[in-house]
Amino acid sequence: MTLTPVITEFWDRPDLYTLAGYERTGGYRALRTALAMDPDAIISQVKDTGLRGRGGAGFPTGLKWSFVPQGDDKPHYLVVNADESEPGACKDVPIMIANPHALVEGVIISSFAIRASHAVIYIRGEVPEAIRRVALAVSEAEAAGHLGHNIHGSGFDLKVIVHSGAGAYICGEETALLDSLEGYRGQPRLKPPFPAVAGLYSAPTVVNNVETITNIPWIINNGVEWFRQFGTEKSPGFKVFAVSGHVRRPGIYEAPLGITMRELLDYAGGMRDGSEVKFWVPGGSSVPMLTADHLDVPLTYEAMVEAGTMLGTGTPMVFDQTVSVVKAVTRWLEFYKHESCGKCTPCREGTFWITGVLKQFENGEGNDPDLDLLNELCEQIMGRSFCALGDAAATPYPAAVKLFRDEFITATHTPVDQTFDPARSFVFSETALSEVGAR
Ligand SMILES: Cc1cc2nc3c(=O)[nH]c(=O)nc-3n(C[C@H](O)[C@H](O)[C@H](O)COP(=O)(O)O)c2cc1C
Ligand code: SF4
Repeated sequence: MTLTPVITEFWDRPDLYTLAGYERTGGYRALRTALAMDPDAIISQVKDTGLRGRGGAGFPTGLKWSFVPQGDDKPHYLVVNADESEPGACKDVPIMIANPHALVEGVIISSFAIRASHAVIYIRGEVPEAIRRVALAVSEAEAAGHLGHNIHGSGFDLKVIVHSGAGAYICGEETALLDSLEGYRGQPRLKPPFPAVAGLYSAPTVVNNVETITNIPWIINNGVEWFRQFGTEKSPGFKVFAVSGHVRRPGIYEAPLGITMRELLDYAGGMRDGSEVKFWVPGGSSVPMLTADHLDVPLTYEAMVEAGTMLGTGTPMVFDQTVSVVKAVTRWLEFYKHESCGKCTPCREGTFWITGVLKQFENGEGNDPDLDLLNELCEQIMGRSFCALGDAAATPYPAAVKLFRDEFITATHTPVDQTFDPARSFVFSETALSEVGAR
């Protein structure tokens, strides 16, 4: 399957992040088309494309928009979830740095469709470059009349606020994000009601991922059939895959949904010298791991579920034989323990327990019965937590022990090598992020 740079098509242009640079690629053409359309027709068009949310859960975008009650005399809000913080997920930040105007154009069109006159872009606070670029794009769009009062004479008003998060992974959960925006401690709300009915300040609110909203200008410009030529019936469209780990060229690869990990690996230059795939996760650390046996499974929502995992954020991390599964799972659990907001007992206490037991294995002090105890702890968290962070924390271990039980048993009497080898680690520096380009 060939790569299909759409969102990433012009990322090699150094001025793409500016208004002039974006307009040279046809930017803001979709906005004028959309403003001449009936808002409901835009919702129908997005529905017909079958676009699924790129934030992890894959919920159909047009369907979500259609839940917003119309004619209710309440303000409506669009909130863009740009809090990307999951281990391995690194696609929204590059989108915002490389082409922030595409996101802003998507925000304006989406707000027009759901009849929102206020939109918020909630960006992870640790990426100032993304915040600066998006804020610049918003002010340029305002100055050009793409935003503000009576946009291009359409009678539509829109104010966009760029908000910086304060570094909590839980604030990526849509209702915790809304609480955080309202000035409260970021903790999830009970659902229902869902945000589309009672969201920001209890008003109807659509929360969508950066990549989801960035798809919108291309959908307006090119239509349903064009979009559906990519991907599968249940997973239409293209995806910005961010490949990281022990590959020769970690980075962004945009391809139709349905491409396989083997193909993506080829585009990423294959494994580094002397390396072979030991395990990989398709979308951030919150989905079950797979092995080399699964390299030919199509990267679609449905095929990933059939294979026992999930597509998640579509940001595969690939690990070679030098990585200890015990150590990787322990690191992920340390992350979830640290990021648990503490609101519910299964997650708050469970992540603490699991991490403690895993660390015993890492130190060569585990016991065989603890392998089952860990499974039990995960079962007590899965489906019993207040939000999906708990489920995510209960995900890595059961898959790991199913595939690599021997490694956990060996770890009961052999401390896992803790030596830090910089050659084995990949760090996304700000410079590296600003250099990401479409391939
Ligand atoms: C702990 C946690 C963190 C999340 N972080 C993000 C995030 O950073 N970005 C994101 O778009 N969705 C994140 N989500 C999913 C959101 O709750 C929500 O499903 C998503 O923003 C909806 O957008 P979409 O329909 O466009 O995918 C997170 C969920 C959980 C439970
Ligand atoms: S599952 Fe974890 S993060 Fe979610 S509400 Fe409970 S304690 Fe907080």
